[in-house]
Amino acid sequence: MASRFKLVFAVCFLLLLLDFCRGGIVGVCYGRNADDLPTPDKVAELVKLHNIKYLRLYDSNIQVLKAFANTGVELMIAVPNSDLLAFSQFQSNVDSWLKNSILPYYPAAKITYITVGLEVTDNPDNVSALVVPAMKNVLTALKKVGLHKRIKVSSTHSLGVLSRSFPPSAGAFNSSHAYFLKPMLEFLAENQSPFMIDLYPYYAYRDSPNNVSLDYALFESSSEVIDPNTGLLYTNMFDAQIDSLYFALMALNFRTIKVMVTETGWPSKGSLNEKAATPDNAQTYNMNLIRHVINDSGTPAKPGEELDVYIFSLFNENRKPGLESERNWGLFYPDQTSVYNLDFTGKAAVGISSLNGTSSSGTTWCIASSKASESELQNAVDWACGPGNVDCSAIQPSQPCFEPDNLASHASFAFNSYYQQNGATDVACSFGGNGIKVDKDPSYDNCIYLTTKGINKTMTSNTTAMANSTSSSTRSEVCAWIASYFLTTLMTIVMNLGNAAF
Ligand SMILES: *[C@@H]1O[C@H](CO)[C@@H](O)[C@H](O)[C@H]1NC(C)=O
Ligand SMILES: *[C@@H]1O[C@H](CO)[C@@H](O)[C@H](O)[C@H]1NC(C)=O
Ligand SMILES: *[C@@H]1O[C@H](CO)[C@@H](O)[C@H](O)[C@H]1NC(C)=O
Ligand SMILES: *[C@@H]1O[C@H](CO)[C@@H](O)[C@H](O)[C@H]1NC(C)=O
Ligand SMILES: *[C@@H]1O[C@H](CO)[C@@H](O)[C@H](O)[C@H]1NC(C)=O
Ligand SMILES: *[C@@H]1O[C@H](CO)[C@@H](O)[C@H](O)[C@H]1NC(C)=O
Ligand SMILES: *[C@@H]1O[C@H](CO)[C@@H](O)[C@H](O)[C@H]1NC(C)=O
Ligand SMILES: *[C@@H]1O[C@H](CO)[C@@H](O)[C@H](O)[C@H]1NC(C)=O
Repeated sequence: MASRFKLVFAVCFLLLLLDFCRGGIVGVCYGRNADDLPTPDKVAELVKLHNIKYLRLYDSNIQVLKAFANTGVELMIAVPNSDLLAFSQFQSNVDSWLKNSILPYYPAAKITYITVGLEVTDNPDNVSALVVPAMKNVLTALKKVGLHKRIKVSSTHSLGVLSRSFPPSAGAFNSSHAYFLKPMLEFLAENQSPFMIDLYPYYAYRDSPNNVSLDYALFESSSEVIDPNTGLLYTNMFDAQIDSLYFALMALNFRTIKVMVTETGWPSKGSLNEKAATPDNAQTYNMNLIRHVINDSGTPAKPGEELDVYIFSLFNENRKPGLESERNWGLFYPDQTSVYNLDFTGKAAVGISSLNGTSSSGTTWCIASSKASESELQNAVDWACGPGNVDCSAIQPSQPCFEPDNLASHASFAFNSYYQQNGATDVACSFGGNGIKVDKDPSYDNCIYLTTKGINKTMTSNTTAMANSTSSSTRSEVCAWIASYFLTTLMTIVMNLGNAAF
């Protein structure tokens, strides 16, 4: 009996630990306000190849849900503002939407959030009053099919919900929104759903460059901004904006609601008076953001608090109205090439300019993993030789690298060429987990060796890095250690239980 109790206890503890140890996640927003984007199937391939594991959608498009079925990518889907009236009016509307448009694709499409309404306080046709009734109907529909614990319901907001955001400790919700915000906060607290916010330090900088330094907006500041009320020190605007929300929530006594950043990013191109919209700044912002989040450093007001963020956006979207920057938030061009390099694991030293030093053993190569399936390899080769911009002429019949004529060899040629051309970062060798880095000459295939040395010696030797990453224990390492310890303990208990039964 006692060991049975211990077992239950240990399992519960492990589950809590896994939840705590999940760490902040980094997703990407898949906006589709464009007429030149690849098909959802192609996008699913691209997302897998770049190791993106979380995606935010702005609707619940069936083609997209189908394309992401069985990819393991977690999806946040949306009820757009235009559907709020129908969703708030009749429960039956929501029930049939769930039954006909969502459940047929679930759980193959791994939906974990439904956002109901999009930045309603900025919507010209005041739909705010409809949001909470619609959220309640969505939750009721989920309860009927027993999915309310697996799929969370919330709504996204702009920082315009606040009437004050500086200093962070003075953060306060605009009281004109109280009529719908108060019931919404009660809903979120009751259902352990996060408060979703879209944050843009870019706009804060663009709109008052004299008050805000670019470094502060890009997480690069060496000085700190002090909050006179709390004495907390801020080194970047992102943290300051998040804390202003935490203080606004605390002021209304909602202390348990977590904040989730459903959009943030930096444009890579802008109009003449948007000088800060450059690929370098976009890469710097997003790279620093990812490191900040992966690392679970939290914010000054909530140190160590894990934060989930979604980067806006996957693609440049040519149909977005407004200034030039509006159409240039993407990580990828519509032809699927990268606007700049970005590593979603936050582990590699991303960006060729930031790479330093060589690995102790010298050059590294990227080759096809022996575990990869034929179809995965073929897809990856097609990608590398197509959108990846690798010159694959050498592996065509009768060309020097055609022999040995097998997929693994051709894939290794394509992977390695891409890897060397893209800064030899870990992420440039991911290929959806089908590429592996080696530091021994892949002697079975001269072509890989030739590619490395032949194309450009200087580039290769100076960009080979990452033999070892930072050695300081991050929270995730500590967590992994504790988890393995508890797993061992758990197995011991289970074995004892088995013995006791006999
Ligand atoms: C929006 O509608 C609500 C109730 O329907 C009303 O209380 C509020 O004042 C309206 N807000 C604006 C900005 O018109
Ligand atoms: C609060 O919201 C109202 C309605 O949208 C708006 O008119 C007002 O300017 C806002 N106040 C502040 C301080 O932002
Ligand atoms: C910018 O700074 C000036 C002077 O320090 C101040 O008057 C102004 O209110 C500030 N603007 C913003 C948007 O903070
Ligand atoms: C985590 O981030 C903080 C602040 O961004 C930084 O000071 C710290 O060195 C980082 N730790 C690791 C292990 O990267
Ligand atoms: C990177 O390289 C530059 C120039 O070689 C050097 O000045 C700098 O100290 C290096 N940085 C690190 C972190 O090794
Ligand atoms: C290698 O770099 C040198 C000097 O930067 C350049 O002249 C040459 O064309 C490059 N070779 C190739 C194959 O790109
Ligand atoms: C790296 O590049 C610099 C010039 O950018 C060059 O002087 C140096 O020799 C290179 N290092 C190696 C190991 O080739
Ligand atoms: C990286 O590895 C080399 C050789 O294995 C070692 O000498 C060096 O201290 C390591 N650097 C870090 C930061 O762990």
